[in-house]
Amino acid sequence: MYSDDLQFICTSDKLTSLDYFISHIEYREKKATAVIFYHQDRVRAYLNSCRHGERRLDCEADTVFNANGQLLSCSMHGFEFDPTSGECLSPKGSGKKLQPVQVIEKEGRIYFADKHIRIIDPLKTDQDIPLE
Ligand code: FES
Repeated sequence: MYSDDLQFICTSDKLTSLDYFISHIEYREKKATAVIFYHQDRVRAYLNSCRHGERRLDCEADTVFNANGQLLSCSMHGFEFDPTSGECLSPKGSGKKLQPVQVIEKEGRIYFADKHIRIIDPLKTDQDIPLE
């Protein structure tokens, strides 16, 4: 089910202390970011790329969530996405979904378990790298 090649993202404690974590990655050999967060007591992750305009969800704001924190939201035009399925809930984006990324939590640590992902620099977080 999962790749044997787990890549460490962050500790569970760190993710618990944040609303979400942004990891700089290569996805299918293209630079990207992934957003990792807890939802309904489970760690989830998606490529941080809106399906409307291929912008980062946090391209215009310091969050990937809507005002009440219940839905993923793109700060460019406000499209909203179900955090469980990645499905776009905005009428104009109907039928589109965020790209899910496989992650697992094991012994207090969170890992990518997705063969299409390579972490670019595990020591750098979103706080260290300017937004593109
Ligand atoms: S680019 Fe994300 S809503 Fe338009």
